[in-house]
Amino acid sequence: MTSPYINETVLSVHHWNETLFSFTTTRHAGLRFKTGQFVMIGLMVNNKPLLRAYSIVSAHYEEHLEFYSIKVQNGPLTSRLQHLQVGDSLMLSRKPTGSLVLDNLRPGKRLYLLSTGTGLAPFMSVIRDPDYYESFAQIILTHGVRVTSELGYHDFISNELPENEFFGEQVRKQLIYYPTVTREPFKNQGRLTDLIRNGQLFKDTGLPDLDPQEDRVMICGSPAMLKDLVVLLQERGFVEGTSNTPGDYVIERAFVEK
Ligand code: A2P
Repeated sequence: MTSPYINETVLSVHHWNETLFSFTTTRHAGLRFKTGQFVMIGLMVNNKPLLRAYSIVSAHYEEHLEFYSIKVQNGPLTSRLQHLQVGDSLMLSRKPTGSLVLDNLRPGKRLYLLSTGTGLAPFMSVIRDPDYYESFAQIILTHGVRVTSELGYHDFISNELPENEFFGEQVRKQLIYYPTVTREPFKNQGRLTDLIRNGQLFKDTGLPDLDPQEDRVMICGSPAMLKDLVVLLQERGFVEGTSNTPGDYVIERAFVEK
């Protein structure tokens, strides 16, 4: 019987701060995924596989895989994963899946990527996929965190991505990056829900208010954040998309271990 898992080798580990880290692994030649999807990853613990869902951070065309994780000191998996070292082996499910995919959305003018915490992960793959720049005139990536040290990938998004040799020009013209912090002073402050409701997000970006005729939305964050944003979108007439019936927005829970 074929194992439901494949093994990959850790290639690099980066600790962003005391609560967040990311790591890259080898990528099995047969592992194909759509931008925005997640896989189950994990380790053998007490001779049993212990796996959790992780969105893939890396772009679909990259040779390696990348993941972004919190560190929970007594979390069954992340208390172990945070000690990953280069050369360690990691288990991966064979079949990526998930709802944050382009096919689940109707065509639109702008794409909003609304994330908090590690919910940024799938959108790191999205903003590196040239298909998205062909599909939307503008892409607005928001990332809400408590403190500035949680703004993972901030420098990459701000400085490196716009210089990408293949699609840097599209990034410069089409991508708006809007990080916001709630518990420390920062240029943008407040919860995404509040910034949408009070119009500050639109004032700062120069964009019109959310409109289901033109805007498409992908959301990834905590259950509370998803719930509140879905209410806000439904009030404005947005309809959820599925693989059977593409719609105006799609959601995925950021897979945080409690
Ligand atoms: P706040 O500091 O006001 O709780 P967390 O680490 O708890 O997942 O939070 C990440 C970010 O998401 C924080 O800035 C937090 O703001 C914000 N947040 C938490 N709950 C919600 C919600 N229901 N709607 C929008 N943003 C939220």
